[in-house]
Amino acid sequence: MDGFIIARALHVLAVILWIGGVAFVTWVILPNIRASRAPAERLPFFESLEGRFASQARWWTLLAGLTGFYMLHVLDAWGRYAQAQYWWVHAMTLVWVLFTLMLFVLEPLVLHRVIRAMAARDPEGSFRRLERLHWVLLSLSLVAAGGAVLGSHGWAF
Ligand code: HEM
Repeated sequence: MDGFIIARALHVLAVILWIGGVAFVTWVILPNIRASRAPAERLPFFESLEGRFASQARWWTLLAGLTGFYMLHVLDAWGRYAQAQYWWVHAMTLVWVLFTLMLFVLEPLVLHRVIRAMAARDPEGSFRRLERLHWVLLSLSLVAAGGAVLGSHGWAF
């Protein structure tokens, strides 16, 4: 059981660093860029900052996924994916899949090109969409994290 306890601690640490970073970007960085930069400069500036966070977030996402699947394995709890009361396991996995897709596939392969094209076409609207996307991802992450704490400590939904 020691392995499980250590995995849980690493899982929570990874989540703190990863989702905490997303909250900082959503609530501090993006509003600050909006207030201090002209529309055409916002996306390129954001991209230059976001690259640094993305390379760290990749490690935290990886650690959260590895420890999460390891805990499911130790608990022999794969059946939770078939039970609606464990919606928080679905929520955690959904958040993880969305970020994994963004950080490991879209960001390195297409996101930079897409962001540059969007910034050239409609800088104001593109930045608004980027902010909205961060709000949606952060909200989903907080619901998943809150649900996971309540659910894994016995709260029945
Ligand atoms: C592949 C993705 C993930 C898997 C398979 C996974 C799996 C798990 C498992 C099995 C547990 C322990 C449940 C129990 O003790 O009954 C857990 C706990 C937890 N997970 Fe995840 N998780 C994943 C991603 C995430 C994400 C993305 C977040 C945050 C948004 C998250 C936040 C948490 C939290 C806060 C706990 C509760 C820790 C505690 O209070 O002890 N997990 N996760």
